[in-house]
Amino acid sequence: MISGERSVMVLLSKSPEETFRIGRILADGLEAGDVVALTGELGSGKTCLTQGIANGLGVPESYVVTSPTFTLINEYPGRRVDLYHLDVYRLTGCADLAEMGYDEYLSGRGVMVIEWAEKIRGAVPFDALFVVMTYLEENVRKIEISGCPDRIGFWEKTLKEGGC
Ligand SMILES: Nc1ncnc2c1ncn2[C@@H]1O[C@H](COP(=O)(O)OP(=O)(O)OP(=O)(O)O)[C@@H](O)[C@H]1O
Ligand SMILES: [Mg+2]
Repeated sequence: MISGERSVMVLLSKSPEETFRIGRILADGLEAGDVVALTGELGSGKTCLTQGIANGLGVPESYVVTSPTFTLINEYPGRRVDLYHLDVYRLTGCADLAEMGYDEYLSGRGVMVIEWAEKIRGAVPFDALFVVMTYLEENVRKIEISGCPDRIGFWEKTLKEGGC
């Protein structure tokens, strides 16, 4: 993306299964080097969406995708591209990122999904896919996805085809 132009799409998920399915469909448009920056309070469904992305990337079901709260990063092998799952909840800033090899992961052959991305805002690439998840009711979440217009257009189409 050369310009800073962004498009936004808003989805309503009425169950964890639906959020999982949204993640699975998002995965179809993801390539190595992509960053998905997830923002949302505790329990808003960030890990649930990431589990769907993992499934869509072809991560074998023998891997259980959970928030890597203590390890900071978990790596999973995908079919086309791998998944790097970060949870930076416990970070206070960007300093610890260098230590964990953040830049190497960014240029690696995987898709990076970051929970609590707002905590490392300055280190998130400007062309990341930004996803804001909001708790509305016990089983209902608002999911706002923004990114470069071409890609959002692709996902609008595939999500609609997928019944989301
Ligand atoms: N529509 C929904 N989408 C996603 N999760 C939902 C939905 N409805 C209910 N849930 C429940 O909300 C919880 C979401 O948990 P999840 O671990 O994905 O949140 P999180 O944002 O990753 O939290 P944390 O910040 O603690 O890592 C799960 O227990 C899930 O079953
Ligand atoms: Mg989580």
